[in-house]
Amino acid sequence: METERLAVTVKEANLPDYEKTAREFDWKEAEKAFSWYETGKVNAAYEAIDRHAESEERKNKLALIYSDPDREERYTFAEMKEQSNRFGNVLRKIGVQKGDRVFIFMPRTPELYFSFLGAIKIGAIIGPLFEAFMEAAVRDRLENSEAVALVTTPALLPRVPVDELPALKHIILVGAQGELPEGYYDFHKEMASASPELDIEWVDREDGMLIHYTSGSTGKPKGVYHVHNAMIQHYQTGKWVLDFKEDDVYWCTADPGWVTGTSYGIFAPWLNGVTNVVRGGRFSPDDWYQTIEKYRVTVWYSAPTAFRMLMAAGDDVVKKYDLSSLRHVLSVGEPLNPEVIRWGMKVYNQRIHDTWWMTETGAILIANYPSMEIKPGSMGRPIPGVQAAIIDDNGNELPPYQMGNLAIRTPWPSMMRAIWKNPEKYQEYFRIPGWYISGDSAYMDEEGYFWFQGRLDDVIVTGGKNVGPFEVESKLVEHPAVAEAGVIGKPDPVRGQIIKAFVALRAGYQPSEELKEEIRTYVKEKLAAHAAPREIEFKDKLPKTRSGKIMRRVLKAWELGLPTGDLSTMED
Ligand code: WTA
Repeated sequence: METERLAVTVKEANLPDYEKTAREFDWKEAEKAFSWYETGKVNAAYEAIDRHAESEERKNKLALIYSDPDREERYTFAEMKEQSNRFGNVLRKIGVQKGDRVFIFMPRTPELYFSFLGAIKIGAIIGPLFEAFMEAAVRDRLENSEAVALVTTPALLPRVPVDELPALKHIILVGAQGELPEGYYDFHKEMASASPELDIEWVDREDGMLIHYTSGSTGKPKGVYHVHNAMIQHYQTGKWVLDFKEDDVYWCTADPGWVTGTSYGIFAPWLNGVTNVVRGGRFSPDDWYQTIEKYRVTVWYSAPTAFRMLMAAGDDVVKKYDLSSLRHVLSVGEPLNPEVIRWGMKVYNQRIHDTWWMTETGAILIANYPSMEIKPGSMGRPIPGVQAAIIDDNGNELPPYQMGNLAIRTPWPSMMRAIWKNPEKYQEYFRIPGWYISGDSAYMDEEGYFWFQGRLDDVIVTGGKNVGPFEVESKLVEHPAVAEAGVIGKPDPVRGQIIKAFVALRAGYQPSEELKEEIRTYVKEKLAAHAAPREIEFKDKLPKTRSGKIMRRVLKAWELGLPTGDLSTMED
């Protein structure tokens, strides 16, 4: 079958000739864009903010346009520098030091961005937590990281089990009221009395900057550890893939609790000196289109789930708004359906550019560039300076059209440098010498475009968020009615996958719709709303191996009406 191709419509792209650049590019070239190339002194927050604040051209340029239904604020690069400096001083005053973990658990607000940048400026390692996390999820992450300070809000504080976290000494509350106990600080009060001048902590490029927790198929969430050096790739992919130009108004819809919201919601735009729009509050098609119209967004980075929800809302909603400012649209997180791309051409007059990467990779590795033909359904081609391949389990590179492990030649600038306190897990990604094994399966065509096929582990991607089935299963069996639980991703037209749980009840409990609802609410309140199973099915018994492991692949086969395959390891 002839592959569908969408012609190039962009005239002047930052990456005009992909083939030539892929042949010739050296990462040393990208490094020359930064001041530390000469001085050897590094700090990613300095490069993202202060460098522009100290330049005549950009100091009064808008860095952040923040809005939510109750609030609208704008900050220039000079103002962002001042605010993040103040927060750096707040942390120093209470004794936070280089290498300490500082976590942020709050909704998107300007304060989140000041805290994020200020912590990095003093050499702390920042850990953003998604606001929807409930107590167990928050505890796991703060415990594992041994965070010493947390920025949060009074509304979210009840979900932080402070007494059970001996390392956590300082709680900085945004929106604090009244007298605070020892160890608690009022964010705005402290900011007001802190100096706007800061001695930046100059660090080594391999020093720690950020930990993002991501779900695996077994065990607790993994702390993916990134260093300052990642900024080189944030910057360069911002140029090539997001195609940033001086006058762009950029909107990344992701929350900084997820890696897209930091690598591309903070670093890539600001390292490139671009105006960054942040919209808080809940998703609604009208709200999103209004955001594009009101701020004249030119470059828009979102996710397949969002595009599918916008598509489901219908073409008439689109027509109510002036979206003519848009010039470049991109997607990440799960497979982007060709159908969605065709719809985007129709209603936005834009090709939606798919990009592929992971929390572990730190930045985009495979993409569709503005200057390149798009083959709908393909993730695109590796960024210059990076080699991707399909390999078998022994490390042999496979020819075009053969499915196998999507692997990346090590290293690249934004590669994770560790899984926090878990070297064994880290080694698993590099079990084949010279390669990073992504856990995704894919094939490559004869022109070097990569085509996603699926996850090789059981990680569920639902609405663009990774959920580990084990975490959900563990939570389910804590419910008094649940004896055993097995969790799978079930294909869903809007969310990509939804979480489906198979549950065996304890003696004395009867299956009922009310019980399903109760169990669902339990996971929602204990773990996170996005991790609660949308579907629950009761079973007398779950398929298990002789060693007692729930066989998720059998559950999946049941669900999809497929053959169950080899059952030799299943208990009777
Ligand atoms: C999936 C998000 C298909 C993939 C930045 C990967 C994709 C996981 C794509 C990482 C894509 C990401 N097409 N699948 N373009 N992009 N994925 O860590 O399975 O939240 O391994 O990072 O999302 O998700 P994570």
